[in-house]
Amino acid sequence: MSLALPTGPPGDGTAGTDGGPWGIEVRGATRSFGALRAVDGLDLVARPGEVTALVGPNGSGKTTLLLMLATLLTPDAGQLRVGGLDPVSRPRDVRRIMGWMPDGFGTWDALTVREVLLTIAAAYRLPAASRPGLVDELTRTLHLDDLADRPARVLSRGQKQRLGMARALIHSPSVLLLDEPASGLDPRSRIELRDVLRALATQGTTVLVSSHILTELEEMSDRAVVVAGGKTVATEDLRTRGTQAQWWRITSLDADALRQALHRRDLEYTVVPGPEGQWSTRGAVEVQLADELSAANLLDALVRDAVPVFGFTPGQGRLEAAYLAATQERR
Ligand SMILES: Nc1ncnc2c1ncn2[C@@H]1O[C@H](COP(=O)(O)OP(=O)(O)OP(=O)(O)O)[C@@H](O)[C@H]1O
Ligand SMILES: [Mg+2]
Repeated sequence: MSLALPTGPPGDGTAGTDGGPWGIEVRGATRSFGALRAVDGLDLVARPGEVTALVGPNGSGKTTLLLMLATLLTPDAGQLRVGGLDPVSRPRDVRRIMGWMPDGFGTWDALTVREVLLTIAAAYRLPAASRPGLVDELTRTLHLDDLADRPARVLSRGQKQRLGMARALIHSPSVLLLDEPASGLDPRSRIELRDVLRALATQGTTVLVSSHILTELEEMSDRAVVVAGGKTVATEDLRTRGTQAQWWRITSLDADALRQALHRRDLEYTVVPGPEGQWSTRGAVEVQLADELSAANLLDALVRDAVPVFGFTPGQGRLEAAYLAATQERR
């Protein structure tokens, strides 16, 4: 799909210091609700042309941070830049270049999908002549075209999510903030969401997306920022996936035969505990292999050795591992 995107943000935003002129930069952002520091000196960079995942336990401050970036909540302290612009002093300019999809939103129930989008397009003061074509394109991209003339109140949860995505994209933002956009989406819609976000990043958009579905985020994201207790506790570069040694999980009907075959090849392995936390006749191990060719060769060798392998899959994802390590005892 192709969506028209602006060539650069308007305004005289200050160039960023890390990774290019625009994108998102957060330094020491802080926001309290009464005595609770929901966001507590948080740092984050999201680069143009990349999808950045924002992950963290429930209550760790993700939505609070996104609301501040979206100009809907004022930080107590810290510096925020969206497309080089300060959302505190220049909220209108930020809204012009930023698309925001909240985790839950109301819709004007009596309006049709098309009318909702035309209304939003008018609110953004997009040229009147371009609005119908834009709405057609967006409803097609987000598979809402069959529903375009139905009232928004009849939409299912997932269809409403897709309408929310269309609303966020209508003014071709160069920075896109999405809070749990995949929740409520069926599997095909999730895959399509991933493809839309990747396509937007390829066109230069800065995408910051929060979600709890780590495997899915890992597939679509270039980087991940892990937050806990309102602070950044880890950042993970996910772009090197496929080029580094990776863990593979091998499952066999005969655990001993599998173990012996790995011993013969001097391969170290870790035992994956079974349901009872024990190594049983059936068994699963994880081995670290240099690349996919090594994995294919090992599988071939195990089959030749008559090891009854019935599972050979990538092991625990990097993002999941980073998340679990960074958020230990921080809930
Ligand atoms: N308007 C508010 N008034 C008081 N407390 C709030 C408010 N908004 C958020 N909080 C608190 O701030 C903390 C961070 O909330 P936030 O919604 O940012 O978390 P989150 O990381 O988005 O969590 P989740 O994964 O559940 O969406 C929580 O402890 C929450 O209870
Ligand atoms: Mg949230």
